[in-house]
Amino acid sequence: MDNNKLNRREFLKTSAQMAGIMAFGGLISQQAFAETAKGFKTESLTLNNGIQMPMLGLGILNIKDLKECQRVIEDALEVGYRLFDTAQSYANEAGVGAAIKATGIKREEIFITTKLFKDYATEDKVKAAFDESCKKLQVDYVDLFLIHQPINDLYGAWRAMSLLYKQKRIRAIGVCNFYADRLVDFCMNNEIIPAVNQCACNPFRQELELQKQCEEYRVAYEAFSPFAQGKNGIFSNKTLQEIAKKHNKSVAQVILRWLIERKIVAIPKTTQKERMRENLNIFDFKLDSHDKAQIASLETGNVGLNHRDPAVIKWLNERKIGESLATSGKK
Ligand SMILES: NC(=O)c1ccc[n+]([C@@H]2O[C@H](COP(=O)([O-])OP(=O)(O)OC[C@H]3O[C@@H](n4cnc5c(N)ncnc54)[C@H](OP(=O)(O)O)[C@@H]3O)[C@@H](O)[C@H]2O)c1
Repeated sequence: MDNNKLNRREFLKTSAQMAGIMAFGGLISQQAFAETAKGFKTESLTLNNGIQMPMLGLGILNIKDLKECQRVIEDALEVGYRLFDTAQSYANEAGVGAAIKATGIKREEIFITTKLFKDYATEDKVKAAFDESCKKLQVDYVDLFLIHQPINDLYGAWRAMSLLYKQKRIRAIGVCNFYADRLVDFCMNNEIIPAVNQCACNPFRQELELQKQCEEYRVAYEAFSPFAQGKNGIFSNKTLQEIAKKHNKSVAQVILRWLIERKIVAIPKTTQKERMRENLNIFDFKLDSHDKAQIASLETGNVGLNHRDPAVIKWLNERKIGESLATSGKK
C-alpha cells in the first residue's frame, strides 16, 4: 500500500476516534496546534465532530491566475500556513492543488476548505461538483466543504454533502453566510449539524448575536473578510492604531488577535509574503479588557453585503463561476 493511502487511512481513523471521545468543551477547546516552519506557534480549535482546525489560515478570493495562486500557496506553506480557503467560484482550486502537490508537506498536515457553488447546490449535483474540486485540488478528501451561499436547494445539497461526509470523502461539512435565523432552522432540521458557519466578521461588523447562536448549536464561527477587505480606513483607524502601538504590533495583528480571542477562526487574504508572516505572528500577545472595550465601540451596525436583501439574493443567483465580487460592483 502506498504511503499516502496508509497515511490517509490512519488520519481518518484518528479523526473518527477523536470524534467519539472529544467533548465540545462549551464551545471550542483551543489547543496548541503546531510549531510552524518559521517557528510561529499557532493554535487550533476542535470542531463539533472532534476534528482539529487551525485558528488562522489564508483566504485566496480574487487570485484567479493559477500560477500566481500556486506561488501564493507555496509562499504561505513556507511561512507556516496550513489552512487554505478556496471555493469552486474562485476558479483557483487547481492553483492550490499544484502548490500542495509540489510541497513536501504531508497532506494530513494541511487543512483544505472549498465551497459548493450555488449552481451545484442540489442533491443530484453535489457529488459531481465535489469530485471535480478534488480533481483540481489533486486530493482524495477535503477537510472542510461548505455551502457557499444560502441559495438554491440547501437541504437537498446538505443531504448529498452528508453522504460524502459519511463516506469519509470530507472531514467536516459546514455553511457560509447563514444568519442566525437560517442557521437555527438548518441545525434543527438536519441529522448532521454544520461544523462551521463562515461569515463576515471584523471590528466594524462584530456579529455578537450570530456568534451566540453558533455557540448554542456548537457551530464554529469562521470569519471571512477580517480586515473588511481593507475598506473604510480599517488599517488607519485611530483606535486600532493605538492598541497596536501599545502591544508593538500592527493593526492587522490586533484584529486577528481579537478574533482568535473570541474563538473565531480567521482567514485573512494577502498575496504578499511579508504580510503572510505578519498575519500569522499573533500567538505571542494578548488583548486586555480595555483593548476589547475599545474595539467593541467600533461596531457600525452596517452588515455590508446583506443576505436578507432581495436584490443581493437576485444578484447572487445570477453570478457565474469565477465572477469576482469586485467586478460586480457589490464588493
Ligand atoms: N464565504 C464567503 O462568502 C466569503 C466572502 C468573502 C471572503 N471569503 C474568504 O475570506 C478571505 C478573506 O476575506 P477577503 O479576501 O474578502 O478580505 P480581507 O482578508 O478582509 O482583506 C484582504 C485585504 O487586506 C489586505 N491585507 C492583508 N493583510 C494585510 C496586512 N497585514 N496589512 C495591510 N493590508 C493587508 C490585502 O491586500 P494584499 O493582498 O495586497 O496584501 C487585501 O487587500 C477571502 O480571501 C476568502 O477566502 C469568503
